[in-house]
Amino acid sequence: MTLVSLTSYQQRLEQVLQHQLEKKSLTDPRLHQAMAYSLLLGGKRMRPFLVYSCGQMLGASLADLDGPAGAIEALHTYSLIHDDLPAMDNDDLRRGKATCHKAFDEATAILAGDALQSFAFELLSSHHYQQVPPQRILAMVQQLALHAGYSGMCGGQAIDLAHTNQKMQVDALEQMHQLKTGALIECSVRFAYLASPVDNAAHLDALVRYSRAIGLAFQVQDDILDIEGDTQVLGKTAGSDQKSNKATYPALLGLEQARKKAQLLVEEALAALRELPYATDELVALARYVIARQF
Ligand code: IPE
Ligand code: IPE
Ligand code: MG
Ligand code: MG
Ligand code: MG
Repeated sequence: MTLVSLTSYQQRLEQVLQHQLEKKSLTDPRLHQAMAYSLLLGGKRMRPFLVYSCGQMLGASLADLDGPAGAIEALHTYSLIHDDLPAMDNDDLRRGKATCHKAFDEATAILAGDALQSFAFELLSSHHYQQVPPQRILAMVQQLALHAGYSGMCGGQAIDLAHTNQKMQVDALEQMHQLKTGALIECSVRFAYLASPVDNAAHLDALVRYSRAIGLAFQVQDDILDIEGDTQVLGKTAGSDQKSNKATYPALLGLEQARKKAQLLVEEALAALRELPYATDELVALARYVIARQF
């Protein structure tokens, strides 16, 4: 990512996650290894970036943002481990390494995903917040439950699996992408807002519209990269969607229209930011990055 602050947020998050994971007393060493293997060292950390960057823009402290930033990454990593399982996308490569079930075994990967999901709620709810009032901490927990589960990521993944080998209407495809990928991106922005002192419904509304636009654009670009990208650069196997006959934007509309759609979504995201009285430059850069990225 070309965003200047990305590396410093990445390093900060790396330390938070490593420290919290190391601190856990050992139950099963293999499960612990599998969790650490998938969670640490790898991944763009785009959702935590959004939590930190948007949160700071709204006046939250970095220390308070460590809880929600760690939580969203743990939840996301769990979703990737399960997404790669033979019963789902059956992929062998993730973040430049063997997928969790390949490096360990299927049962361990299922449990590592389960445990990372719980870990996410633990990071979020047990964090020592300095400035976030209890009702806002509770609201963050509610948001994570909502966006991770049936009404969010899991619901989207179920639609994805149900429509493999089937043609989808563009509206249904959009809903699937919003849920499986957009939900956790929206949740990141909601965390940033809830961890901050801002109390303004119109500002939250603009931020949510921004997050929905970049969330959808992020998955459209993911679908494009599955066709155009290079396995080495992506760190996951290119062509996976075509191999499994997945419903994607380029499969439905063609690459050219998919690119146009992603571009329009970024413009929509930037328009939402223009409604806000904050220094939005990092969020502007992130929106552009979402469709410029090569991995
Ligand atoms: C991959 O997410 C799965 C999707 C939701 C498209 P990322 O592209 O953010 O994956 P990492 O975290 O950088 O590995
Ligand atoms: C996955 O979408 C979204 C998740 C909830 C993990 P994909 O199946 O396209 O993600 P990749 O391409 O495997 O990362
Ligand atoms: Mg998938
Ligand atoms: Mg996949
Ligand atoms: Mg994909």
